Amino acid sequence: MDASGTNPHIAPMAILKIARMGHPVLGRVAEPVTDPGAPEIKALIRDMIVTMHDAGGAGLAAPQVHVPLRVVVYHAPAERTDDEERDGHETAALTVLINPEIEPLGDEMSSGWEGCLSIPGLRGEVERPAHIRYRALNINGEMVEGEASGFHARVIQHECDHLDGILYPQRMTDMSKLIFESEVRHIVEADEDDVGGENEVGEEAAE
Ligand code: NI
Repeated sequence: MDASGTNPHIAPMAILKIARMGHPVLGRVAEPVTDPGAPEIKALIRDMIVTMHDAGGAGLAAPQVHVPLRVVVYHAPAERTDDEERDGHETAALTVLINPEIEPLGDEMSSGWEGCLSIPGLRGEVERPAHIRYRALNINGEMVEGEASGFHARVIQHECDHLDGILYPQRMTDMSKLIFESEVRHIVEADEDDVGGENEVGEEAAE
């Protein structure tokens, strides 16, 4: 601590600049974190969380803030989840995953609308495995594992794709489903039953 009461070795909290599609950092395979307990990793995670909240995103991966390391933060709140699909793995409080590994559970696929803070203003429909298992280090450097379904599974897969240099349009099979956020109302009108939960295409969908 210095006279001002702050630790001079840790940068002050900051809202970070988000890389946009086309920046090379978004196309690279990120490096594993070797020391999850390092002060600079803790500072990075802290800044990623404030940046995600500031931008109104559901998740954020370190490459999106120009740091090519395998770190993601996200949350999957209950209001994003379709009640009928809830199986106990659908929601997640604010979560930090370091060096995550994921694998699909079963063959079931699910379509849902995604956005990305690195691709502002757009939404795209992406098909992904509906259920996954994940394994990672948490913010304390402890191994954690779990299962995820629905929006929770989608946000983890979207964020982990960032760690491998993949953006959601690269996962799309029907590019007619890449649309501007401002035109989302047409989908809402056309497909009233899909509004809410996993298929919600509101502001909060940005990951
Ligand atoms: Ni994203």
